[in-house]
Amino acid sequence: MQDAQTVLPRTAANRREIGRGIAWSAQLIQPASDKGVGTQASFIRKEFKVDAPGGAERLYISAHGLYRCFINGERVGDDLLTPGWTCYDKRLAYQIYEVGEHLRPGVNTIDIWLADGWFRSQLMWPRSRILNCWGDEVAAIAELRRDGTPESDVLVATDGTWKSGLLPILKSGIYFGEVYDARQEGLPASDSAKVLPFNTSVLVPHETGPVRELPSLAVERQWQDADGRTIYDFGQNMAGYVALSVEGEAGARVIVEHAEILDKDGVFDKASLRSAEAHVEYVLKGDGVERYRPYFTFQGYRYARVTIEGRAKITAIASVPISSVLDRTAAFLCGHPLVNRLVENTVWSQRANFIEVPTDCPQRDERLGWTGDAQVFAATACYLHNSESFLRKWLRDVIADQREDGAIAHVVPDPTRLHPDILPGFFGSTGWGDAICVVPWVLWQHYGDRSVLDETLPAMVRWVDFVWSISDGPIVKPPRAWGARGFTFGDWLQPSGPSEKPLPTCGDDLAATLYLYISSTLTAKIARIVGNETVARRMAERAETVKKAFAAEFITANGRLVYDDQTSYALAILHDLIPAEHMRAVRQHFKAAIARSDGRIGTGFIGTPALLPALIKIGEPELAAAVFLQEEAPGWLYQVKTGATTIWERWDAIKPDGTPHPSGMNSYNHYAYGAVCQWLFESVAGFRPDPNIPGFKHIIFEPAIIRELTPVASSYDSAAGRIEASWSLDGDRVTYRLRVPDGSSGTLVLSPAYSEIRVDDQQIGSGGKEATRSLLAPGAHTVTFRISRSPGANPGGDQTKP
Ligand code: BGC
Repeated sequence: MQDAQTVLPRTAANRREIGRGIAWSAQLIQPASDKGVGTQASFIRKEFKVDAPGGAERLYISAHGLYRCFINGERVGDDLLTPGWTCYDKRLAYQIYEVGEHLRPGVNTIDIWLADGWFRSQLMWPRSRILNCWGDEVAAIAELRRDGTPESDVLVATDGTWKSGLLPILKSGIYFGEVYDARQEGLPASDSAKVLPFNTSVLVPHETGPVRELPSLAVERQWQDADGRTIYDFGQNMAGYVALSVEGEAGARVIVEHAEILDKDGVFDKASLRSAEAHVEYVLKGDGVERYRPYFTFQGYRYARVTIEGRAKITAIASVPISSVLDRTAAFLCGHPLVNRLVENTVWSQRANFIEVPTDCPQRDERLGWTGDAQVFAATACYLHNSESFLRKWLRDVIADQREDGAIAHVVPDPTRLHPDILPGFFGSTGWGDAICVVPWVLWQHYGDRSVLDETLPAMVRWVDFVWSISDGPIVKPPRAWGARGFTFGDWLQPSGPSEKPLPTCGDDLAATLYLYISSTLTAKIARIVGNETVARRMAERAETVKKAFAAEFITANGRLVYDDQTSYALAILHDLIPAEHMRAVRQHFKAAIARSDGRIGTGFIGTPALLPALIKIGEPELAAAVFLQEEAPGWLYQVKTGATTIWERWDAIKPDGTPHPSGMNSYNHYAYGAVCQWLFESVAGFRPDPNIPGFKHIIFEPAIIRELTPVASSYDSAAGRIEASWSLDGDRVTYRLRVPDGSSGTLVLSPAYSEIRVDDQQIGSGGKEATRSLLAPGAHTVTFRISRSPGANPGGDQTKP
């Protein structure tokens, strides 16, 4: 049996049962001891009788704020940050636990601890600070049923007869951290609980796996600073918390601060946290070895600085990463250590930013579900960890936050929807809102479950209509002012020019129009798949109109894009916006744009994932390799070489002279640029889903051989089973070994630049003008070929065709 304390396994049967919904008999109750946001945390308690526990009892539970539940003093489950994070006013998750083993015959006690969490602790930065976002009161709703079925006896349920009291948690907040005074453990339940008006129809089963701890990280190095504080280096930037064992006198304090980096003089540097205090404090009760790890918060850090006030000593310390995605589904290893580390860094950035919601970063006063970041990273996310339920849950919140006119929020869950006075107009940016079209498409490609398309299509249509309405036509001209209707972030954080608004080189109008094309095309395809022909036709026509207008507006007669930058070329090429007659010239201009930046990357958030795939598409794998592998800023490997252990927000977050970028917006754990891993899987290892037969039921194998990366070994536990692809180069001879999972089929596509092709020892082609194609049955295959490049050959140039 699975650990009886954990949430039930997400089997189809469970999902059905949970999906039936429950007629809650419990009421939402607030501890009377609660004095509001930022004050000492409270618990609610009830004693109840069970004559003969049967062992199958289940607890249904949720809260406003975060909760942790104990029955007879034993913790229920090991999930963290429950009930999770959603648009609480519209969708509040509940968990179900099997709790039979905690019950005893006779009187039992249930305690539910509550804390501010996302529900009411600070969200957003000081100028736009939102407190009590979804409400002023923390509260819980819970009921314990005899055999877990919705019809069975209720053994205890929250109502006005519960008591409340104060916890040893003196203060707690997502950005703030936590202060815990162990001397205040066991305070009595001397207050009452108050029933709050509540509509149980907002309760939904928790739609993704719980946040859990990953294996903890030991100290790699520790030293004392000039003020006698101990600094611990855990060797890895991440999100989670420090776990302490400490011994000392009652009232002594252990204060833990967090930082992602040391500055160039080796000084603990908290600048990247901005106003997030990330302060954790434990006050000892003076009772032998005391153990503590924060209950209701997490921080983004690699280093911890510990100050001890009074007589106490740390007897053990570790760093505990937490995440919603626990099991890795893909591996990529090659002969280039910096590239391998880049992949690891992306894995760590996903773990740290997949905590209930796909966030921008886990450390500063944001940690928000930025739609643009999730949009560009979604495909990489699906390779690295199974992200299906995680992103589907989030998409439901994207829809819940969608505005009346179809605009999608910049961040989801959107704290500004309920507080438009604090930050008006915080929605409707192209590239960001397009998440509502791109993410469902990515999920469909990876997992092949059509229901995600059925569920999201109406929201996509409204979004595409919104973007059209910005300028009432195919060329979108976003306004410049922040917050104005249709404002766009453009190609956010392009390295050329100032990296804040308003001067990215890729024109906002081009970027926005391009995204209108991408989203109307996807929406047309999706509508066709779900059988909505009317929408499919309307969206396809719209896409055609945008395509024509794009060529007229943004491509000169000589085939140059008017903005002439890497992002514009990459996206336009990748999404087939260049008419055939201009392709030759556009290719040259694209290459020239790269040459002008000395072969370095010139793209921001939306251009970066497109850059290398576009180079492969035009038959330039060597150039793609050169841009990818160059080690100066801006470029992927610069940060790895500089010692990054997660993906940076900026290409030059740390300057070559060791100084951190002076911007107030400089995170060292932002997954967006890690989206390049999709390219490593799809173009380098060379496997990708067939858009027409999704879920990896049919796999396209089309590797671009990059000499510097040999040998490459990759695998992916796809929805259809394990895919393997590896290659090595000996002189100009390639051996490509791959595996098609049982029940799937594959097609091998090899560029005309490759010759002497043999599949499983059968000669199948020896190069020519056309790509060589060969069907692959399930099982292992060995392909050999030569990579002599013939003039005009186009390795990978066929990637749009399955
Ligand atoms: C966030 C992002 C986000 C961007 C949009 C930043 O503050 O950290 O990653 O996409 O704003 O402007």
